[in-house]
Amino acid sequence: MIAVDGPAGAGKSSAARGVARSLSLSYLDTGAMYRALTWWLLANQVDISIPAEVAAHMRGAVIEVGTDPDAPRIRVGGADVSGPIRTREVSNAVSAVAAVPQVRAHLIAQQREIIGRAVAAGDGIVAEGRDIGSVVAPEAPVKVFLTATETARARRRSADLAGDPAVTVALTQAEQARRDGRDSAQMARAADAVEIDSTGIGLDEVIQKIVSIAMSRTAGAAWTT
Ligand code: DC
Repeated sequence: MIAVDGPAGAGKSSAARGVARSLSLSYLDTGAMYRALTWWLLANQVDISIPAEVAAHMRGAVIEVGTDPDAPRIRVGGADVSGPIRTREVSNAVSAVAAVPQVRAHLIAQQREIIGRAVAAGDGIVAEGRDIGSVVAPEAPVKVFLTATETARARRRSADLAGDPAVTVALTQAEQARRDGRDSAQMARAADAVEIDSTGIGLDEVIQKIVSIAMSRTAGAAWTT
């Protein structure tokens, strides 16, 4: 199993999917689970500024997350929300939901189940998030912490939101800084994680670096454990 953690916009998703593809592993986007829950709470008019309200309603959202790196789909209550969870509305609301301790316990249990199933099946999995190597799967044999400068991260995020004319790099950077502040409590870098700074290096190179870390740490194919 390979854990990829780091802040928003460091390129975790593209890198983790690329690594999963090149090593034929499953892929788990844990951020998508926090986003899907947030989308569902907003759609059901739950006041996400009140943690007790969030905790009381969270189990109403039945989240199914796909693990195919070529088509990472996510469903809530049977509806495909892969697109809607990427809106700015959800991006700006998700930190408040992810900060609720009951939400973390609930989603971390689900994440451990998905990872455990992949490992038991001998498939292996690349899981990305903020706390995978430190909290969700501290036993992971391969851990990477992906970073990039604030400007590089904002540039990447605003390119993701290119369809929205109201979104500039400056606005993205301001929203990102607010989110970084709120997310920092959840971000825990494992002491044994290898840090990669993706600023100024291409995606293929990042993928290659992670693959070679995996090879050297596991001497072959033991990342399926
Ligand atoms: O990686 P992302 O932007 O899709 O993450 C969405 C939000 O979920 C972000 O605010 C941080 C939070 N998150 C978390 O608290 N723990 C994780 N393992 C993954 C994401």
